[in-house]
Amino acid sequence: MKKFDNVTILDHPLISHKIAILRSVDTRTKDFRELVEEITTLLTYEAFKDAPTREVEVTTPLEKCKQKMVVENSIAIVPVLRAGLGMVAGVHTLFPTAKVGHIGMYRDEETLEPQEYYCKLPEGIEKMRAIVLDPMLATGGSAAAAIDMLKKRGCKEIRQMSIIAAPEGIERLATAHPDVKIFVAVCDRCLNENGYILPGLGDAGDRLFGTK
Ligand code: PRP
Ligand code: URA
Repeated sequence: MKKFDNVTILDHPLISHKIAILRSVDTRTKDFRELVEEITTLLTYEAFKDAPTREVEVTTPLEKCKQKMVVENSIAIVPVLRAGLGMVAGVHTLFPTAKVGHIGMYRDEETLEPQEYYCKLPEGIEKMRAIVLDPMLATGGSAAAAIDMLKKRGCKEIRQMSIIAAPEGIERLATAHPDVKIFVAVCDRCLNENGYILPGLGDAGDRLFGTK
C-alpha cells in the first residue's frame, strides 16, 4: 500500500492480542463488545496524544504544582451508526466529557455506496475537534461521507478512528480527505467481492448487537 502522511497504523502487540480474539468466529457478543471498547481505549490514547490542554494549579498534600488538563468542550466523538456506537464507551473511559454526535449510515448492498439516514451533532461542533468512530474502514465510503457531512457543518479539525482497515479504504479516505488524520489499529489484506475486509472479523454491527 502507498504510504500516507496522515495515516497512523498502531500495530501494537497488546492491541494485536485483543484483535486476534475479536476476529475469532468463536467470540460471542458480550466479549466482542468488551474487546471493541478496550481496543478503542488503546486507540484513544494514541489519537488524543496532542489533545488541546490548559494548565491548572493543583494542591497536592505536599505543595502546589502546575499540571495540564484536556480542555473540556474541545472534542466531539461522532460514531457512525450502528457499529461506531460500540466505540463510544472506549473513548469515554479516558475522556468522559467528550461530546457525542451521531451519524446514521448504511452501505447499499449492491453498490456498496453509503446511504445517510440520520445526523445529530453537538451544538458548536464547528469549534471542536471531531473524531469519527467506526470499527471498520472497508471501501472508505462511509467514513468519507461522514467527514463530508462534518465539513458541511463547518468542522475544520477532523480525525478518523477505526479498528480494522482495508488498504482500499485507507487509500480512498486519505486521498479524499488529506487534511484528516486517520488512526487504525491494523490494516488487513484486501476487500472481497462483497466489500468485506479479509481476513477482517465479519459484520461488526451484527457481531456487536447480536443481530445475526
Ligand atoms: C459497516 C461499518 C461501516 C461500513 C464500512 O456498516 O460499520 O460503517 O460498513 O464500510 P465502507 O468503508 O465500505 O463504507 P454497515 O453499512 O454494515 O451498517 P451497520 O453498522 O448499520 O451494520
Ligand atoms: N463492514 C463490516 O462490518 N465489515 C466489513 O468487513 C466491511 C464493512
